[in-house]
This record gives sequence, C-alpha cells and structure tokens, in this order.
Amino acid sequence: MQPRPTKKTLEPKRDRRALVDRDQHEISRFESLVGELSAAMARAPADEVDREIESWLGKICRALDLDRSAVYERDSPDQPVRATHTWVRPNFPAFPKNYEPEKLIQRSTQLVMSGETLVFADPSEIPADNPDTRRMVAKYGPKASAAIPMWAGGRVIGAASFGKFRSPRKWPPELLDQLAMAVRLFGSAIERKQAEIAIRAVRTELRVASRRNVMSELVASLSHEINQPLGAILSNLGGVARLLTQGNPQPAMALEAVNSAIEDTKRTADIVRRIRSMFKNQVEHKAPIGIGPLIGEVVKLTAGEASVRKIAVRIEVSPPGQRVIGDSIQLQQCVLNLVMNAFDAITEARSPRRDVVIKVAPEKIGWAAVCVCDSGGGIDPAVAKRLFEPFVTTKIDGMGLGLLVTRSIVESHGGRIWASPNPDQGSTFTFTLPMAERKRSSASRRMG
Ligand SMILES: Nc1ncnc2c1ncn2[C@@H]1O[C@H](COP(=O)(O)OP(=O)(O)O)[C@@H](O)[C@H]1O
Ligand SMILES: [Mg+2]
Repeated sequence: MQPRPTKKTLEPKRDRRALVDRDQHEISRFESLVGELSAAMARAPADEVDREIESWLGKICRALDLDRSAVYERDSPDQPVRATHTWVRPNFPAFPKNYEPEKLIQRSTQLVMSGETLVFADPSEIPADNPDTRRMVAKYGPKASAAIPMWAGGRVIGAASFGKFRSPRKWPPELLDQLAMAVRLFGSAIERKQAEIAIRAVRTELRVASRRNVMSELVASLSHEINQPLGAILSNLGGVARLLTQGNPQPAMALEAVNSAIEDTKRTADIVRRIRSMFKNQVEHKAPIGIGPLIGEVVKLTAGEASVRKIAVRIEVSPPGQRVIGDSIQLQQCVLNLVMNAFDAITEARSPRRDVVIKVAPEKIGWAAVCVCDSGGGIDPAVAKRLFEPFVTTKIDGMGLGLLVTRSIVESHGGRIWASPNPDQGSTFTFTLPMAERKRSSASRRMG
C-alpha cells in the first residue's frame, strides 16, 4: 500500500486506448456526480447531514462499481477512530459492529489520519512492511481499496474508505482527486453539523441557567405562597385544640377543621415539591475560565442578532489570556444580558454610530473588570436609580429581570456591578470578577 502508486501496466498496447477512454468517461461522469454532491451538502440542514452522507456513499459506490464504503471520525486526537457512516452493496459482507480500524490496521489508520491517501489496485501491491493490512485484506477480502483522509478547517477530522470485493480496480489520479473532493465535502458538512449542535447545546444551557436565576430571585415570593396555607393550618388546628379542651368535641366541626388542615398541608407539600424540582439542576461549577474565550462565545451566539441590527461588536482583553474564577454558564448569561441590553439601547436610540465594545481589564489587585459599552441613548433618568430592581423596564416587551439576574450572579461570585454614562454617547455597564491567578496581596501574606 503506497500513497498514489504509479503502476506499470502490462496490458497489450491495442487495448490501452479503449481502456483510457473508458477511464476518462468514468472520471468525467464522476466529476458531475461530485458537483451534485456539493450542492446537496450545501443544502442539507444539520439534522440531515448524516443521512445525506450515507446515501452519497451509496451513490459513489454505484457510480464507481464499488462494493463497500465508510466514513470514519474521531472526537479528539486521543479518541479511537470509529466508522460513523457506512454503505454496503446488498449481499456483501457488512462492517463488523463498532468497527475500530486502529485495532485491525493500526499503521494504515495512522498514515491516513496524518493526511496520506492509501490505495491498492490489487492486494499484491500492499507492501510487506505492512503485515496488519495484508492480514486484514487476506481475511476480509477486498481486491482493491482507497482510503482517503477527511479534511475540514485545515486538519484531518477523519477518513473515508472505498473498497471493491469482486475484482481489482485501478485508481487513476484524476479519479482520486475527485474522491478526495467528495470526502472533503463530507468533512465540511460534518463540521458544520457539529458547530450547529454545539451552539444549540449552549443556547439550551443558557436558557436553563437564565430560568434558574430568575427562579432564585422569585423564591422570596414563593415562600409567601407557602406561608398562606401554613397560617390556615395553624388556625384550623388551633380551633380543634380549643374544641377538645372545652370537653365538647363537636365531632362534625372538628372533622371539618382537620380535613381542611389536611388539604392545606397537601397544598403546601405540593408547592415545596414544585420549587424543589425547579432547582434540581442548580449546581454551580466554579473553576478558572478564560474570560476572553467566554465573551467570544457570547459574541458568536449573538452574531446573528448583531448583523440583523447592523451593530459592530468588538472585544478587547488586556492583558490577553486573563482567567477568572466562576461558573461559565452563569457568567455567559451575565455577558449575554448586558450585550442584549446594549443592542436594545442602540436600536431604540436609532443611533448612527452602532457599536458595542466589550472590554476586560484588571481592576484593583486580584480582580478583573468586564465592561460592556454601547453607543445607545443612555439610561432613562426615570429608571436610573432602580435599574437592578425586579420588573423595572422601559421596553414594551421587557421583563425587567435581566439586570437583576446579572447582579445576583455577579454578587454570588463576590463581584460588583454598576452602570455609568459614557463621556460621549451611550452607557457602560461594568462588573468585577475574582481573577484566577491572584497576586498574593499583603493581607493574605500576613495571614499566612
Ligand atoms: N445599555 C443600556 N442603555 C440604556 N438603558 C439600559 C441599558 N441596559 C439596561 N437599561 C435600562 O434598564 C432597564 C432594565 O434592564 P433589564 O433588567 O435588562 O430588563 P429589560 O431588558 O427586560 O428591560 C431597561 O429596560 C433599560 O431601561
Ligand atoms: Mg435586558
């Protein structure tokens, strides 16, 4: 097995011309199939990508008279390479379940994953120094095979293999180029699918986190709801106790009071259960996190919104690579709330200057400050003093909870948040967070 072997042909001269024509014909037909593949991949929504790839493996095999084909992926460089999509001509041997090529043909797998294309037109071409592959081919029987690295975004994210079991076959270089193009199209579709899935997951998590934080602010009002039935229970049981001490139980009245206490107790238990279930997944994961990448994530998440509203967003982190201690989902929520408010302020003001700058800079020793500066119309004096109170909003469809939630997260991280007007235009919301790599302050040195 060698990269792109140039094989001496032993066929008699007169047959060669016909053969070359046939090859040429196959290549140009295949070229137009790859064109169709390209259009189909561009059209396929993320959820359809896997199904499309499997169906195209079949189309490619039928076009090139092959019998079996697979796409392989691995989640990260230290993970095993797995077959993720397969196509097998009816009545031909299927791939083994959970097929991991590294276990059977380690050397070839490594070569392909490092970017080499491996082909053999006939099993006799497999070099003697690759005994794994010789053994595997002898056992499973492909007569010809091509294994092609799958590139996406400048790196190899997997591979694809194409095999023929009925007879040997040649792999002209032009055909291999077209196959490589097809595999590249699979690679970019897979990458697009993964990016979309990742963004969707982050969005869901953010939604959950936002609900969680709003809930923690609403606990106060829920406890009020619990106090009501508790008060009713108390007065009913008090009544029963009075009846009993009077030595005149009046069973009907006592029963009514007890029954109503039972009902109220059930109601209370129900409320407690509801609150408990809301907070079930409230686990904080505080850890050192790169604040720059975290902000980058949020900016990516809001890129669609920014482009619709024609707002330019810039990030300035100095010094770069700063890390803070925090729960990344909650902190993303904070940045997201402030960025959305900044977008709203700019949209509302119909400002000709439409930019948001998110800055990170050191603030005192051991603290970082995150500022979100907008070019909006500034804070409405009517709400300026109550910005962080619940349900304070100047927007028609506003909830007035964003800043409250943001403050509660920032404070649970030990930080502070405030708003200030910009000297020229718009306003800046700033919050502070503890830095991960704190310089030892004089206080901590004293303490030991
Ligand atoms: N960047 C900003 N510029 C001007 N006003 C703002 C800004 N951010 C927040 N505000 C004011 O604070 C109010 C409360 O914000 P928030 O708690 O996020 O709730 P909501 O966005 O639902 O109104 C907003 O309605 C707005 O009046
Ligand atoms: Mg808001």
